[in-house]
Amino acid sequence: MPKQRRPRRLSRRDFVRLSATSAAALALGQHPLGTAFAAKPGPPTRYPLFIPPTVSHLGLNLNPAPAVADLGGGRLSNVWAYNGTFPGPTILSQSGDSVVIDLQNGLMDETTIHWHGMMVPHLADGHPLQAVSPGGGYSYQFEIQQRACLNWYHPHPHMLTGEQVALGAAGVFIVRDAQEASLGLPSGAYEVPLIIRDAKLNSSGNIVYVAQGGGYLGSVGLVNGTRDAKLDVDTAIYRFRVLNGANARIFGLALGNGAPFTLIGNDGGLLPAAVQVAQVDIAPSERVDLLVDLRQAQVGNRIMLRDLRAGWNLLELVVTQQVAPSGTLPTTLFPITPLTAGPTTRNFSFDGMSRINGQVFDMNRVDFQVPFGQVERWRFTTNGNAPHPVHVHGASFQVQSRVGGRGALFPWETGWKDTVLLEDGETVEVLIRFDHHLGLYLLHCHKLEHEDMGMMANFEVV
Ligand code: C2O
Ligand code: CU
Ligand code: CU
Repeated sequence: MPKQRRPRRLSRRDFVRLSATSAAALALGQHPLGTAFAAKPGPPTRYPLFIPPTVSHLGLNLNPAPAVADLGGGRLSNVWAYNGTFPGPTILSQSGDSVVIDLQNGLMDETTIHWHGMMVPHLADGHPLQAVSPGGGYSYQFEIQQRACLNWYHPHPHMLTGEQVALGAAGVFIVRDAQEASLGLPSGAYEVPLIIRDAKLNSSGNIVYVAQGGGYLGSVGLVNGTRDAKLDVDTAIYRFRVLNGANARIFGLALGNGAPFTLIGNDGGLLPAAVQVAQVDIAPSERVDLLVDLRQAQVGNRIMLRDLRAGWNLLELVVTQQVAPSGTLPTTLFPITPLTAGPTTRNFSFDGMSRINGQVFDMNRVDFQVPFGQVERWRFTTNGNAPHPVHVHGASFQVQSRVGGRGALFPWETGWKDTVLLEDGETVEVLIRFDHHLGLYLLHCHKLEHEDMGMMANFEVV
């Protein structure tokens, strides 16, 4: 494991002290962030990528609370974090496991935990109706009845999700199974979760949240909470488990040396076959499973993971060690049975910034009912203010078509998805079947500011 900064819990007194320090630095004419904002030639200093600690779900307590985190170079920022780490601990479990995770709310506002991508009973889904008051607790209990994949957890309280996620409350949840294990994919230090997001920092270097209808867009890219990140790598194949953890920003990921990624999975686990892609566009809450082949690299090579949309250098891979070549890039993975459409089609129009089919979210209103176990066609259309990354709780879906806008489906949209991006002018059709649990679930825009403003609907699986 690389050496890690250890964010710690922050007391109210620490907050006061931190602000006093920042104020003193300003009074002395020093920027509290040192040289961070000073114009200087050449590439910025790069900081070791933070890898969140891995924990088992067994006996796990999650405690969202104010904390401080080092975003790089020893500069401390105030954040809100699960168990004092930003991002939160990586939860590791196996398909078939019974999970009990207890939330202790250390924030000053109500919160819930939603297990994004996990098929859980509605009382464990983190619905805003199950909000937990400051100081309160909640026990989330579910069985993992799904294939290997990378999911994530984050707050989902009514109208407060954007703020809590932006300030740092989020982590990944990895599910493993025997099928995936049989592939011998890169593991240990060669399997790295990358939570990519952006943030706004104030003059003291603290993450700040300002809700904007167009979506919270920060000026700094963070990978696992580290700005200008770098990772020392071997001449090996790496498996990057990527989550777009941003509130609103879409990333266009590519390698600076022009080499392709080998895309092997997305939201719902492995794709039927590996695909070489030069660029991956990933919207908020989408995941991609990317292999990067560094077997031919030389010690001293530096390869940048870039965001081509903002022109950001997110993560520099610094080849520091030659190892005996091992492993191969997989080609065929595991087949996925295509869903066949049943008689029902539903239309959902994502209107403006706050409505679905003309209605603002009301957590006490059930907007529609879906019969358990039947395949339905859901058609998502944008009616202004796109992009809208559309997300469904309680089931995965298979994307069928996209008309208007980009007018095509992309390799990372095959297989099983729980979020699909609607750009301007687009209509996207998916096939979906709820075959896990009955009860109340959510459909919403995962641009968190749209979600908080009401672009969300309750539905009931019956
Ligand atoms: Cu990741 Cu309802 O959200
Ligand atoms: Cu979700
Ligand atoms: Cu939206």
